[in-house]
Formats: sequence, C-alpha cells, structure tokens
Amino acid sequence: MNVADGLEMGRRLKARGFAATTDPAEADVFLVNTCTVRQHAEDKALSRLGRLADWRSGGRRLLVMAGCAAERLGPRLTRRFPQVDLVIGAKSIARFDEILDERWPRTAFDGRREWEEAWGWGAGLDDTALPGEGVAGFVTIMRGCNFSCSYCVVPAVRGREVYRPALSVIDEIAARAARGQWELTLLGQTVNSYRPAGPNPGPDGRPVGDFSDLLRAAAAAPGVGRLRFMSPHPQYIDEKFAGVLADTPAVAPHLHLPVQSGADAVLGRMRRNYTREKFLAKTRLLRAARPGLSLTTDFIVGFPGESEADFEATTSLVAEADIDGAYVFKYSPRPGTASADGPDDVPDPEKERRHATLQALLDERTRRKLAALVGTEQDVLVEAVRPDGDRWSWETRTAHNRKMFLRADRPARPGDRRRARVTAADGKTLHGDPA
Ligand code: 5AD
Ligand code: SF4
Repeated sequence: MNVADGLEMGRRLKARGFAATTDPAEADVFLVNTCTVRQHAEDKALSRLGRLADWRSGGRRLLVMAGCAAERLGPRLTRRFPQVDLVIGAKSIARFDEILDERWPRTAFDGRREWEEAWGWGAGLDDTALPGEGVAGFVTIMRGCNFSCSYCVVPAVRGREVYRPALSVIDEIAARAARGQWELTLLGQTVNSYRPAGPNPGPDGRPVGDFSDLLRAAAAAPGVGRLRFMSPHPQYIDEKFAGVLADTPAVAPHLHLPVQSGADAVLGRMRRNYTREKFLAKTRLLRAARPGLSLTTDFIVGFPGESEADFEATTSLVAEADIDGAYVFKYSPRPGTASADGPDDVPDPEKERRHATLQALLDERTRRKLAALVGTEQDVLVEAVRPDGDRWSWETRTAHNRKMFLRADRPARPGDRRRARVTAADGKTLHGDPA
C-alpha cells in the first residue's frame, strides 16, 4: 500500500513538472512516506528524517513527510524535526493535490474527474515510469479499514473504508495493461471488504456490489494478464469468492491471507472475527476451488497473554493450513489501540524466541516446498534482465509469486512471459532455464 501511495504521490509531483530521481543530491523535494504499523517502522522513518537535516540545509529544498506515522504524530513531528517543511498524514493523501497546489501550481494532469470527485485521487497515468514501477503494477481499489483488531493502529491512521468506483478501477487496469503491465495487484487495507453503497456500475452496466464482482470485471478488462490482490480479510472469504477463484484463470493461484494466530483465545482478544476452525474451513474452501493454490499469511507472536500452548496452536496451524510462507511479527504495542491499554506481558526475549522458532519452521517448509518444484515447469513473467558473464540472467516471478532466476543464452524483455524449467532451489528463490 505504501509503495502504491508513494508512486501515486510521485505522479502528482510529476504533473507539476518534477522529475523523479533516486539521487538525493540532485533532488529539490524529498518525500518520506512512512509506516507506523509497528514501532520499529516508525523509528526507522524518524531516524531517516533526523539524517535528512543536512540534506535539507544543502540548498533550496523541501522535505515532505507523508503516510501513517505522519498522521499519527502530526504537528509533534515538525516540533521535533524543524527540517520538515510539510506533513501530509495518511488521511490527507486524497488531498495531496490540493496541498501541493498551495506550493506548486499544476502544469498538467488528466486524471478521471469522477474518481477525483469521489476520492480526490486520480487514475491518470503518464507514459514515463517512476522508479519502482515495472511490468507489474498496483491498483488501489479502497482505502481505510472498518475492522477494529485490538492491536492495530491502521483504522486510526487511515480512517473508515472508502471504495473506488468500479469504472475508475477498470479504467486504470486497462490503462496499465495497455502500457505493458501484464500483472496487476489490486490493493486495499482489507481489499476484499470492497462493498460500495449505491449504484456502482461495471463496464457492462451491471452493478459491482462486492469484491467478487469487481475481481470478475477486472479479469474481463482488455489486456489483463494476471491479477493479484492484497490483503484480503478471512471474514470476507465466502462461496461466491471461491467461485470466482475457480472459474477465473486470470486470478493468480496465490493468496496472502493474514491469520495472525492459531489460538482461539488469542484470536478472540485480537478481535479478528474468526476462530482457528473457521479460518481452516476457509482455506479448505479456497483449495477446493483452486487446486494447487498457494497460501501465505501474517503472524503476530507475543500478543498480550499469549501462552506457550497458544503459541503451539500457531505453529501447528502452519502445517494444518499447509501455509506456503509467512511474515512473522513480534507484537508491538501501538498507542491508542485497545490492546495497548493492557500489559505487554510476553517478555521480549520470549517474543524473540517465538519469532525465531516460527520463522525457522516456515523457512524449512518453504525450502521443502521449493525443492519439490525442481524438475517442474513454471509460467513466469520476466521482470528484469541483466548480463551475466557471457550469458544473461532473467529475474522472473512464477504464478505462485515465487522469484525465479533463469540463465539464458539470449536476453529477454521485461514483460515477456515464458515457460521455465526449475533446476534448483535455494532459500526463497528458484533457479532454472527457459524451457
Ligand atoms: N504489532 C505487530 N504486528 C502488527 N501488525 C499489525 N499491527 C501490529 C502490531 N501492533 C502486523 C499484522 C498485519 C501486518 C501488516 O502487520 O500481522 O497483518
Ligand atoms: Fe488492522 Fe485488522 Fe484492519 Fe488489518 S483488518 S488493517 S489488522 S484493523
């Protein structure tokens, strides 16, 4: 989400005549897009701001801080960091244009009016890619979160859910596909809670009532190759969605479905709105709909009151749900959240141990799963190509979202789709040859 927001803000600056650079020395504006989901992320952003004081004083320059930490800390930031010129919190991202207008008049922008009015957020793309944009692109379909997980700061910093009109989503999808982005990821804080009130016609005039309808319409948009989405909430995984997964081949055979814990007591206190068994039932539904589906997830370890038995319920869920990979986070109390009111009672060394134990278990699974792919053929999307001695190295991604490096006699073009034979696996990557 932050990458997509950063690119979107970059586009707004480009519309005012700025060009993107990755070299701070030649930049007039430095935009720091921040995260506050865990204290560690916020600390990193603040230390970056601290180190930018020298850059800021090195010329007529502007330092802009945006995103969720900016939203959470607001004016406290400029007091602590006088080098910051402009703070744009996550909730004001939709007003980014207006805020910029006060400083830099717009020279060109051709975003779709309807979307601008609905959300203040344009779908206008220009033909020069920003750093970080490649053959795979992001399309934001909703913002905010109406859940209230007890540990999570997102509802406070991003606000209530706002849904983008389906026609605007489909427009951007078609525009990106036409520019050669064969693979697109639909984005939202809880992407599958997409449920606009009122009429929300799709390209064929029929109403797009929920995420399943949107996914179907997106898959039918001209030029679409492969569709991914991030991150769905288990609560909205239902029969209708399973039906789309079953009969829409453009939807990738991979889902990142955050579960957070395998223990009912913890899930209850996290206010996740499902039990372990309900989550498992959803994974069975998905796998029945799409054989070969790969499932990745997020876990939080060391949540307040998490006992050793609770933690073991989480480790056993990994095998039972046949999880293909996961991000593991140590619980980090966020000011203002429900769980931060109580004690943070799992000592840090114990959080560390649980983190390492779960991570090792997942790494070992990934290793075995990848090793089992040696000898198979995969459909890959070429993302980057570089010379490698007298041959070429193609950096690609499989349909299941695994990175795969190919060695080839010839170069390829980013965006090419190929069949590839897996010859080796290490850690989290595959290696092989063009088939
Ligand atoms: N502490 C640790 N991890 C958290 N996440 C969200 N809030 C917290 C927190 N307070 C994790 C969840 C979520 C991911 C984006 O970040 O696992 O799915
Ligand atoms: Fe946070 Fe829960 Fe919303 Fe995800 S669903 S953003 S974890 S409150």
